[in-house]
Amino acid sequence: MTGELRIGLIGTGGMGGRHARNIHTKVGGARLTAVMDIDTDRAQKIAAPSGAAVFADGEALITSEEVDAVIIASPDPTHASLAVICLEQRKPALVEKPLATQLDDAAAIVEHEASLGQRLLQVGLMRHYDPQHVAVKDALDAGAVGRPLMFRGWHRNPPEATRPTSAEILINSAVHDIYSARWLLGQEVAEIYVQGTTIDPKRTDQLDLQLVSMAMNGGALAIIEVNKDSGFGYEVGVEVTGSKGIVSTPPHHSPIIRYDGEMRQKVEPDWLQRFAIAYIREVQAWTTAVAARRAKGPSAWDGYLTLAAALAGAESIERGAPVEVEIPDQPGLYT
Ligand SMILES: NC(=O)c1ccc[n+]([C@@H]2O[C@H](COP(=O)([O-])OP(=O)(O)OC[C@H]3O[C@@H](n4cnc5c(N)ncnc54)[C@H](O)[C@@H]3O)[C@@H](O)[C@H]2O)c1
Repeated sequence: MTGELRIGLIGTGGMGGRHARNIHTKVGGARLTAVMDIDTDRAQKIAAPSGAAVFADGEALITSEEVDAVIIASPDPTHASLAVICLEQRKPALVEKPLATQLDDAAAIVEHEASLGQRLLQVGLMRHYDPQHVAVKDALDAGAVGRPLMFRGWHRNPPEATRPTSAEILINSAVHDIYSARWLLGQEVAEIYVQGTTIDPKRTDQLDLQLVSMAMNGGALAIIEVNKDSGFGYEVGVEVTGSKGIVSTPPHHSPIIRYDGEMRQKVEPDWLQRFAIAYIREVQAWTTAVAARRAKGPSAWDGYLTLAAALAGAESIERGAPVEVEIPDQPGLYT
């Protein structure tokens, strides 16, 4: 491919807006040429700095000759059908997580892509590009702590205006942490059990503090704490216990200040600040791979398996018991 990669963006909220700004100001070799959002005022505001065209319809954007590759950052239930249009049009896409909200839809996408014999989709499981997570992965790969035996992850959020259900917390948030466990341990989730409790006293039917326990198919263990109302800000980290030691992400990016009888460290307020660098690296890596026609990064297969584990987790809440996660044969495209 010669010249700049022309990107079309669907969904211009918190995530899509950040991707748009990053493409315009931080990512080389790519430019935003098309934008679509059901909120046309917002789409116009996001399109203006790059002079991108505003589309009224997602399919029209994907099929436009002005678009080489697509970012899908609209709400979760819209991802699967838009990803299918991208596959039909043979247009590479960065699909925000989750790949789909129904497992059948995710399976159909994997099957469709595998039948094309070409990786066109990357899923926005962006911990893969966070320097702190990458440093842990590098240490594990170098054998710094021996054989990985146990993953521990924490994902603590400020409250959202629209509170998610117990299942949405798994499908929308915990997929990131499930991906981290799979990626860092190099094993798949064989069984999952989710227990939870309620932080918000008005929503006793929803578990906004969840403890996800997973048995991995290579014998490792994994636990994840997902907290949807931390009360203090946003915090994500991982720790892996190996046969010879432990490797973990450092607590925060900010300096530690000792003053007036206290030791303090600022906590990031939200995901956009915590993962500012990861979002730039993710889109840069994706556009570079698309331009080189060499797909890398979290795949539709990763999207499928993380969703399968999250949905099994939701089922385990209903059943009050661990649920086995079925791992289908991996299509050759993803090996
Ligand atoms: N990778 C990450 O770290 C990360 C972080 C946050 C959100 N996300 C994902 O990004 C997506 C968007 O999340 P957000 O936080 O930006 O949400 P948001 O609510 O801030 O923005 C969603 C945008 O999509 C628009 N929209 C709604 N329906 C649409 C449709 N049918 N077609 C086109 N646009 C539509 C809305 O008008 C809004 O502008 C979600 O799938 C979410 O899971 C990923």
